[in-house]
Amino acid sequence: MNQPQHITSLTNDKIKFVRSLEMRKVRKETGLFVAEGTSILVTARDHGIAPETLIYLAGSAEHGIARGLILGALAAGAACLEVSPQVLAKLAEKDNPQALMGVFRQRWSDPPLISPDSKNAVWLALEEVRDPGNLGTILRTADAVGVAGVILVGTCCDPYQRECVRATMGSIFAVPMVRLTQDAFLDVVVRWPGTIAGTHLRGVTDFRDVHYRRPTLLVMGGEGPGLSDAVATACTDLVKIPMAGDLDSLNLAIATALLLYQVQGASLRLTR
Ligand SMILES: C[S@@+](CC[C@H](N)C(=O)[O-])C[C@H]1O[C@@H](n2cnc3c(N)ncnc32)[C@H](O)[C@@H]1O
Repeated sequence: MNQPQHITSLTNDKIKFVRSLEMRKVRKETGLFVAEGTSILVTARDHGIAPETLIYLAGSAEHGIARGLILGALAAGAACLEVSPQVLAKLAEKDNPQALMGVFRQRWSDPPLISPDSKNAVWLALEEVRDPGNLGTILRTADAVGVAGVILVGTCCDPYQRECVRATMGSIFAVPMVRLTQDAFLDVVVRWPGTIAGTHLRGVTDFRDVHYRRPTLLVMGGEGPGLSDAVATACTDLVKIPMAGDLDSLNLAIATALLLYQVQGASLRLTR
């Protein structure tokens, strides 16, 4: 089993490497990302996902959940770095950082295959989503309603960037994510057997009036441009959420939540 390494220097190479994961280019090259906070790390562990490196505040390994996470990470072969408050603050770029953070491998799934097992599935597609806070909130909501997966279409923001990971509150480890070009997505759409519900400000159907045939593919547009014409044309239904005020549109994450609960909410029950 590895032994924890004690680090107090801000210029330590391992610390510099973890900091470099702030850059999308480095995340892309390495396939790694950083998740912070005990509760997010507990969610990862509960999904059977171990960090490659666990970083924790010196002195926090003695008891409680942190101790369990550190022992579990060591047993899984992770490098464990016990760091000073200054190093942790630098890594988190915050004055009151979380006491634990992990470097994890990114997970990407294959495009949806609609089989008899998945014929009741709900998939969510997001075209050109740009705001990491929105994307993180959407992944959390997608997890809450139990979607089969989220498809990121075209040039989207990186779900593995810090702001997005924080906003998911751990759902980054729960929701399968697929990346597709617009052309590859249209190939999926052409073969989709159920409702493909595009959300559009030019939609003339109230989103509550549609019978969403399963498997359902819900398609949301980006914050700026909305749905592209190519994707909108490929949808079986274009739906709109009515708005009383003199406003243009709803926030993307809010609109997605309303749609997801409309499509999937009836099957959810309070169990705790
Ligand atoms: C912030 S809106 C931007 C819309 C864009 N300016 C346009 O003209 O289509 C981003 C996305 O949120 C969803 N959305 C927001 N408000 C909506 C509404 N009232 N009805 C349906 N979808 C909505 C749609 O998916 C939309 O593409």
